[in-house]
Amino acid sequence: MSAGSTLVTGIGELVTCDGTGDGGAGVRRDHALVVEDGRVAWVGPAASAPSADAVVDVEGRCVLPGFVDSHAHLVFAGDRSAEFAARMAGERYDGGGIGVSVGATRAAGDDELRALLAGRVAEMRAQGTTTVEVKSGYGLTVVDEVRALRLAGEVTQETTYLGAHVVPEEMRADRSAYVDLVTGEMLAACAPHARWVDVFCEPASPHAFTGEESHAVLVAGRDAGLGLRVHGNQLGHGPGVQLACELGAASVDHCTYLSTADVDALVDSAGTTTATLLPGVEFSTRSPYPDARALLDAGASVALASDCNPGTCFSSSMPFVVALAVREMGMTPSEAVVAATRGGARALRRDDIGRVEVGARADLAVLDAPNHLHLSYRAGVPLARVLEV
Ligand code: NIG
Ligand code: FE
Repeated sequence: MSAGSTLVTGIGELVTCDGTGDGGAGVRRDHALVVEDGRVAWVGPAASAPSADAVVDVEGRCVLPGFVDSHAHLVFAGDRSAEFAARMAGERYDGGGIGVSVGATRAAGDDELRALLAGRVAEMRAQGTTTVEVKSGYGLTVVDEVRALRLAGEVTQETTYLGAHVVPEEMRADRSAYVDLVTGEMLAACAPHARWVDVFCEPASPHAFTGEESHAVLVAGRDAGLGLRVHGNQLGHGPGVQLACELGAASVDHCTYLSTADVDALVDSAGTTTATLLPGVEFSTRSPYPDARALLDAGASVALASDCNPGTCFSSSMPFVVALAVREMGMTPSEAVVAATRGGARALRRDDIGRVEVGARADLAVLDAPNHLHLSYRAGVPLARVLEV
């Protein structure tokens, strides 16, 4: 190996997420890997590892791909902990609290928002996340949405325009004028700063968007060159999943309420549309968990993400999400790790991350544990961190 290469050795268990074996986790023992120029250059039995410029000995720990958190809302100010407490006391979530974050975010200065965002990204990285998608959606004016996306672009290339988060208070009387803004002037200003467009498609909420409105938002975004993502079927059965599949969206997220036809549509999309499950939301809203087993057993593409946001789940922790998926959604520990890495990559249409294979980015996480079972076995213990190589 050339100068600058690093041999990672002493790996107790290597979780490659290469699609083979139990849950697709591709678990290897007695393996080592070499990193060169930020990419995985070699993976194989430790006994035949090539020499490298430097050696990192992880002393028996588990190494896995860094988590790919494909759904997060990190550009916001303000505090909604009282709303969480009210929910724990029995109140239902309907998206109404988003307006509180919109007010606080609009009032915050750029430096304050930038610092809040950086703190949240650092918190994620400290728990093993190496890629995060970041949405706008707490600005809801042209300037505030552009500002959110500019800031998001400082920390990730996975930026998502979510002008269609809710209809803001000042436009409540004229929903169609807001949809026109989101699909017109606001989109034109935001598209240069975004990779994706998203919409909160939820006819069950008076604040979010109908199937017809969501269709208009997604088609306009697609015409502006953006990839498609959908918040769908979170609060009840609805058109979100079908719409996402019909338009070839990369991901439909939440999927808390799924009909058989919804599962069929996801399976028929043959991996084009990933079902991204966000169990931290069910935890924090006392909702039923999505039927992950129905999706996996039918052969749908499934991802896990945090949905870190001030309303429905203010947790940045992918290990917490993995533990919930295993405990509450019947996913095996291997399936959960794959969904939180390779699944997230699929939901972002990325094949350079979410797996430990030659040619992939060397975005790696390491656990203070001998194997990946410990992620859910030792829930709440800070085992995961990014492996700096
Ligand atoms: O993904 N449901 C829509 N948006 C977020 C929640 C946003 C909020 O309540 O602030 C979600 O759950
Ligand atoms: Fe969300």
